[in-house]
Amino acid sequence: MLKIANLSKSFGTHKVIKNVSLTVGSEIRVVLGLNGCGKSTMLKIVAGILASDNGKILIDKRDVTALPPEDRHVGYVPQQASLFKHLSVRENIRYCLRNGRGAEADIDQLVEMLKIENVLDKKPEALSGGFQSRVSLARTLASQPHVMLMDEPLSDLDLAIKEKLIPEFRKVLKKLGIPVLYVTHDLSEAQLLGDRFSCMIEGVLSDADSAEKAFGLIRESISDYDLHGPAQHQLRN
Ligand SMILES: Nc1ncnc2c1ncn2[C@@H]1O[C@H](COP(=O)(O)OP(=O)(O)OP(=O)(O)O)[C@@H](O)[C@H]1O
Ligand SMILES: [Mg+2]
Repeated sequence: MLKIANLSKSFGTHKVIKNVSLTVGSEIRVVLGLNGCGKSTMLKIVAGILASDNGKILIDKRDVTALPPEDRHVGYVPQQASLFKHLSVRENIRYCLRNGRGAEADIDQLVEMLKIENVLDKKPEALSGGFQSRVSLARTLASQPHVMLMDEPLSDLDLAIKEKLIPEFRKVLKKLGIPVLYVTHDLSEAQLLGDRFSCMIEGVLSDADSAEKAFGLIRESISDYDLHGPAQHQLRN
């Protein structure tokens, strides 16, 4: 279980994460939010890449707030694909074994589940975006994380590819049964993938009963100012 309690983060005077609390059990929790609302910042804090100003993070009841990323047992798929260009797909996935994490047999199973048997000897740049996403997920899962954090890993893909990939990813993640925290601004992605939903609006996280309701709250939060800019806004008042 992942538990986030009262997390806050500012960059200078800009409050980006505002007292965020969230519990994710063995489920896929999708957080919907507009560009710049703080999604990546929240995930980076949970992954241990950024320090928060306040709050606590617990993974399986262990307080990991002060631990470095490698001691948190967290799998993190960042917003920008980060496969090693000079390594083959196989070497990318087996990379975690160097640090004593993961098991060869599990890797074989992941390769099969994510249907990447035929690209194992290729370099990442020879792969389509969809296959790079499959490999990124396989590589992250290979280290046997206790929690998965996924930052819009499919945002660069065509809708038709996403529609095929997301149910497959969902099947793999559900089989592993670990908490997944997945952030996106895309309603269709949320609908296809999530078990439970939240929305983030300017650093404030709220639960919603469905992806549509989370999206509705975001839509309501968009003011005339956001849509028309300051000049139009002044004209209207
Ligand atoms: N290192 C940083 N220093 C200063 N400001 C930052 C830093 N990182 C993020 N921010 C600011 O914090 C806010 C939230 O950024 P964040 O990347 O978390 O948003 P996001 O929801 O992931 O957006 P997107 O959907 O575009 O990826 C933005 O205004 C951003 O400019
Ligand atoms: Mg982001």
